[in-house]
Amino acid sequence: MKENLQQALNDQINHELYAAYLYLSMAEHFQANNLDGFAHWMRQQREEETGHAMKIFDFVLDRDGRVKLQTIEAPKGGYKSTLEIAKQALAHEQKVTQEINEIYELAKTEKDYPTEAFMQWFVLEQVEEEATALKVVERLEMAGNDQAALLMLDREMGARTSTE
Ligand code: FEO
Repeated sequence: MKENLQQALNDQINHELYAAYLYLSMAEHFQANNLDGFAHWMRQQREEETGHAMKIFDFVLDRDGRVKLQTIEAPKGGYKSTLEIAKQALAHEQKVTQEINEIYELAKTEKDYPTEAFMQWFVLEQVEEEATALKVVERLEMAGNDQAALLMLDREMGARTSTE
């Protein structure tokens, strides 16, 4: 595998682990504020992101490349509202989509067909990731300041099963 692609995949392992860390910090906020359903959603997200990182980890090694683990940035925290967190999660997924698309593009440019095929899974996964986050944002906007509606949504989030 070309050095630039190996580097991009290594960086993406770090980005996925950062996402896991970010979602874990969101889970902590929800749990501390008795929103166990939203905490459950974020715990699941954390697991999924760790899974994404490991998928890339294994791929790099299968291609006879090397993984060099990097420092994971600490999430800033200081969350204020459930809606703000959901919006932040959506914005983060949009950023990840951009990163994924860039690796896909690089694989195409380098004519690295295995990486191109491998990245297709991530390209499609991002469609789902963004759709899920957007749905939560929109439902929270519908709930507005209605605490009963928020608690109902929390119950729904708690029943959510992982899509992976
Ligand atoms: Fe690994 Fe949520 O994208």
